[in-house]
Amino acid sequence: TGKLSYDPGFLATASCQSAISYIDGDKGELLYRGYPIEQLAKECNFMETCYLLLKGELPNKQQYEEYAKNVAGYSMVHEQMQFFFRGFRRDAHPMSVLVATVGALSSFYHDSLDISDPAHRELSAMRLLAKMPTLVAMSYKYSIGQPFVYPRKDLYYTSNFMRMMFATPAEDYKVNDVLVRALDRILILHADHEQNASTSTVRLAGSSGANPFACIAAGIACLWGPAHGGANEASLSMIRKIGSVDKVAEFVKSVKDGTAGTRLMGFGHRVYKNYDPRATLMRETCHEVLEELGLKDDPLFKIALEIERVAMEDDYFVSRKLYPNVDFYSGIVQSALGIPSSLFTGIFALARTVGWIAQWKEMISDPDQRIGRPRQLYVGEPRRNVVPMDQRK
Ligand code: CMC
Repeated sequence: TGKLSYDPGFLATASCQSAISYIDGDKGELLYRGYPIEQLAKECNFMETCYLLLKGELPNKQQYEEYAKNVAGYSMVHEQMQFFFRGFRRDAHPMSVLVATVGALSSFYHDSLDISDPAHRELSAMRLLAKMPTLVAMSYKYSIGQPFVYPRKDLYYTSNFMRMMFATPAEDYKVNDVLVRALDRILILHADHEQNASTSTVRLAGSSGANPFACIAAGIACLWGPAHGGANEASLSMIRKIGSVDKVAEFVKSVKDGTAGTRLMGFGHRVYKNYDPRATLMRETCHEVLEELGLKDDPLFKIALEIERVAMEDDYFVSRKLYPNVDFYSGIVQSALGIPSSLFTGIFALARTVGWIAQWKEMISDPDQRIGRPRQLYVGEPRRNVVPMDQRK
């Protein structure tokens, strides 16, 4: 193979240099710009985290206020966008709607598409971050046949998103701090995760010079897959299918012997070969939300805890280092917040948008940046000649 190395799934290939997030899979550690995820999740909100990921440092009070105000100011989408939404079937999967509508932003904002201009890059980044909650909420409202709710400039990012999701013309949404904090934490925990599949997709798409709206749409398409962002939806439907705590042991056994026809969704990770630190934080949030909503005896949560207990006592999972990942609990939290499971991956996309943008910006300004172009090991037919059609077998 000469100079080529064969590395399916890129297990041993570093595709770039990056200063944004860092995972130590053996220690179970995740850092954003050097800060441990536990500290960020407990001491900062999502907007501060966005600022950190995009700019490299946490904002001081004045920087924060300016930034949050600026983001809020860009949260409206072009009025024409609602007609684009109306072209979809009501039962369209929100991820297909998001791929399309985020990609379509490139046709609305020609004035920020010159990627060689840093001012354009900043403006596109701002637009993506600010408009993503509006688009995700619109995709939800459309799917349930309710009118779109316009964003409000005076609300915090995540409160604004929840209001756009849950307010109706008949009743405004009353912001609940515990629930906003829970969703904010989901956003923080999913904001970036080094060179995962969707981030690598964004970088690869961007390496050809494609505009950032198109690149993020490509990332959303990749995130949709059940082995990536679709895992929380799959995990919750698995928990629902199991149905009760006493059926857990039998189900876990059927996963191991292959008769379940599925993996244990929400378990395992390519990089974490120890506990996923995000899963610990998510489990904590899960307790808080269920407590706040008076759902402490929630059967789904009980089944989830039992799955974790059974799997962690089983050599199959322990020897393969298959621990719960962040998606295992995030489905239950989102469901308690009133978010339908078909939108879970959309919430993940909302959270990861900032990471995708930060990574795209980093790539564009990297002097080593070249078009991404993996090689292959050709295993097809050797050279042969075309036979005229009337002589083919
Ligand atoms: N349940 C049962 N067995 C599993 C699981 C699981 N969830 N995950 C891996 N295995 C087994 C697999 O069958 C293999 O066993 P063997 O060595 O006997 O063939 C071994 O563990 C190694 O698996 P792998 O496929 O080589 O591992 P990977 O690093 O390529 O896959 C993964 C990582 C996350 C795709 C995988 O663990 C998985 O499919 N998990 C379930 C889906 C899931 O929860 N995905 C969310 C990932 S985290 C969120 C995100 O970042 O998007």
